[in-house]
Amino acid sequence: MDSSLKCLILVSFVCCIVKVNSLTLTQPFYNEFVLFIDDQPLIDHNSDDPAIAVGSSYINFTEDQGNFIINEDVYEKIELTTCDIDDSGMPILFKARCYNAEYSPEITVDFVVEEKDSNLFRKSASINVSLSGRERLWFRLASDSNEKIYGAGEQFTYLNLKGREFPMWIRVGRNLSSPLTQIVETGSPGAGGDYHTTYYPAPIFLSTWNYVVSGEQKRYSILNFTSPTRKEIYVHDNQLTLNIGTAANLMELVGGINLDVSQIPPSLPEWIYNGAIIAVQGGTQNMLDKLQQCLDHGVNVSAIWIQDWAGKIVTSFGYRVFWNWRWNEELYPGLDVVITNLAQQGIQVAAYINPHLNVEGDLFLEADILGYLLKNNRGESYRQDFGGFLAGTIDFSNPLAKQWYADLIKKNIIEFGFKGFMSDFGEYTPIDAVSVSTPDPYEFHNLLPVLWASTVRLALEQSGTFNSVLPWARSGFTGAQYFHSMMWAGDQNVDWSQSDGLPSSIVAALSLGLSGFGLSHSDIGGYTTLNGILTRSQELLLRWAEYSVFTPLMRTHEGNKPELNHQVYSTNETLKSFARLSAIYTSLAPYHQEVVAQVSTLGIPAMTPLFLHYPEDLNTFEIQYEFLYGSDLLVAPVLEPSTVIWEVYLPSGRWIHFWDDDQQVFEGPTSITINATLGKTPVFFRADSKWAPLFSDIRNRFNI
Ligand SMILES: *[C@@H]1O[C@H](CO)[C@@H](O)[C@H](O)[C@H]1NC(C)=O
Ligand SMILES: *[C@@H]1O[C@H](CO)[C@@H](O)[C@H](O)[C@H]1NC(C)=O
Ligand SMILES: *[C@@H]1O[C@H](CO)[C@@H](O)[C@H](O)[C@H]1NC(C)=O
Ligand SMILES: *[C@@H]1O[C@H](CO)[C@@H](O)[C@H](O)[C@H]1NC(C)=O
Ligand SMILES: *[C@@H]1O[C@H](CO)[C@@H](O)[C@H](O)[C@H]1NC(C)=O
Ligand SMILES: *[C@@H]1O[C@H](CO)[C@@H](O)[C@H](O)[C@H]1NC(C)=O
Ligand SMILES: *[C@@H]1O[C@H](CO)[C@@H](O)[C@H](O)[C@H]1NC(C)=O
Repeated sequence: MDSSLKCLILVSFVCCIVKVNSLTLTQPFYNEFVLFIDDQPLIDHNSDDPAIAVGSSYINFTEDQGNFIINEDVYEKIELTTCDIDDSGMPILFKARCYNAEYSPEITVDFVVEEKDSNLFRKSASINVSLSGRERLWFRLASDSNEKIYGAGEQFTYLNLKGREFPMWIRVGRNLSSPLTQIVETGSPGAGGDYHTTYYPAPIFLSTWNYVVSGEQKRYSILNFTSPTRKEIYVHDNQLTLNIGTAANLMELVGGINLDVSQIPPSLPEWIYNGAIIAVQGGTQNMLDKLQQCLDHGVNVSAIWIQDWAGKIVTSFGYRVFWNWRWNEELYPGLDVVITNLAQQGIQVAAYINPHLNVEGDLFLEADILGYLLKNNRGESYRQDFGGFLAGTIDFSNPLAKQWYADLIKKNIIEFGFKGFMSDFGEYTPIDAVSVSTPDPYEFHNLLPVLWASTVRLALEQSGTFNSVLPWARSGFTGAQYFHSMMWAGDQNVDWSQSDGLPSSIVAALSLGLSGFGLSHSDIGGYTTLNGILTRSQELLLRWAEYSVFTPLMRTHEGNKPELNHQVYSTNETLKSFARLSAIYTSLAPYHQEVVAQVSTLGIPAMTPLFLHYPEDLNTFEIQYEFLYGSDLLVAPVLEPSTVIWEVYLPSGRWIHFWDDDQQVFEGPTSITINATLGKTPVFFRADSKWAPLFSDIRNRFNI
């Protein structure tokens, strides 16, 4: 977008701000102080409950197929009970030196809180902390039992972070107690996960005290919100920088977070609104047969997505892609011609890639000879187990390797004619892997997804296709949002579980949006099936599809064992139901376009929790499975099987049930129970929405 326009929007968005100094200090007694930012408590220190501790620990990270078991033994923790403060620079600069008399002067922590200029936030400051003597720091911000905290990147189980710990270490896996992960555990101890394990952690959080805290740390850290009176940031480093921004309300705060990071164009490729992206595999004929089946039943197909375009291998986990990123002519004969022909019919074809190369492929050999792969400590290319096969990882810290991979993406994917691709993986980097220019493996582990994202972005920019080709990515960390425009929620179980099923995909989108990444979607029907114990039902597939209509992107996935799971094309009945949903999604195109544009113009994520719009309504702060899609649609997906009615909380305002022919108006705040038969995901729109005619038209056409 034109930058002056962006500025205009920005100015109107943060208008009427009178800048006064940010920092104030109260010091009731010696060695006791509270530092406020914009009148909200930020740092609260006294000798009984000090703001800072330092110490030492042993830690080890055991990697097993992208799961990391982290064992830490903290054998020393020293509370820095005394802080000498220098407030002579106040109100724009505050300094303190903290220590414990027993360990002084060997161990000291200095920190500086400094007001900064910002056109994104009402007030802004940074806290710079430096340690001497130790490399473990507990830095504590003030809190109370009413404060609520959100963000931390992509979280799947809990939207409100208060009361829990969130480690910042990129990995795969989810909550141990779900039946499926227990099975994984039995085969491979530690390979499950926990409520906080995520592909995309980010040390950023916002508080209902109307400030956001964004940490610059890359090494292992923990956001610890366990204590009712503290927000603690635990880092494995001898320094820490936190950036704070304040705003008049949470919506402006989230706007500032998203605009700050947003370098994405204000639109996604237009082709995505032509229908759903349909996943199929297994060769040219199968792809065309399944596509025809979909078209025969009236499915609106924007793209056919063939993840096995480079070939396939079979492992005990299921059908896997051959990680050697070039057209596999044996499996996909004539694909080049097929892509051209389908494009003429308005149907695109999408591919798949990740940062790894299977050791059996010729591209691995080439990268190995060029020295473009991460190395082991003997200087050889690192060959890592990815579940039944070995692969190397591109060393994106080497500019030559990065360009080589970007060229590969340009030549073999973009120039070949693919209009989208899944940009998978990024979580597995082991700490004994050696890169060319990031000597610290703990930092490199969390950095890799960002480097991977920037490589994909480089390929799009160099080929001039940033507005026509859409990658969708899984892994991330602070910085990934500069490069990618679309995430997806990874590999949910094909079930209804809170920890890793359909509900978790909603929390994922909402938490990402609050962390600075406004566009995401999920695999319709989930992905992970194991040993035939858990398989996808028709009902789950359709419930997931009907809620995805009200997200920025509708895309299916066949899962890791396609033949065991219900698919869009499994029966004519499913095809018919899915066709209706794809047509509703397509009919909503003008609304989708507005929602997507607002991510980069106003900084409002596509999917937002209710509390962002209704901060005065305390009921909304714990609602994590209802969301607003854009500003006019309230979506409350059905999360349980065999459901015919569903209870929905409506915040204040006048609401109309999307599927109600009588257009009855409900006055919020209220909880109501509505019909929610299959195909009619509970959705409400604002009675005064400018989109009401479009919504009514869609209801008239599809209320069947
Ligand atoms: C990992 O750390 C834990 C806790 O300190 C310790 O008990 C365990 O022996 C360590 N394992 C390895 C392989 O070093
Ligand atoms: C704090 O750290 C940031 C980022 O490292 C730096 O830009 C800023 O100058 C530092 N401020 C002070 C007062 O040290
Ligand atoms: C794990 O998931 C189960 C249900 O799937 C849930 O009962 C449990 O509370 C979850 N545990 C954590 C730590 O989130
Ligand atoms: C998190 O905070 C709780 C409560 O203050 C504390 O008991 C726990 O040790 C902290 N965790 C870490 C990793 O420091
Ligand atoms: C969606 O599919 C239907 C049935 O094939 C077709 O009539 C309609 O034109 C399609 N809509 C768009 C926008 O392509
Ligand atoms: C499904 O639909 C196809 C195409 O319309 C038709 O040929 C086929 O007989 C149908 N199958 C069943 C079981 O009805
Ligand atoms: C729910 O469905 C039943 C039966 O189809 C119908 O009689 C009733 O009016 C519906 N209720 C609402 C609130 O739409």
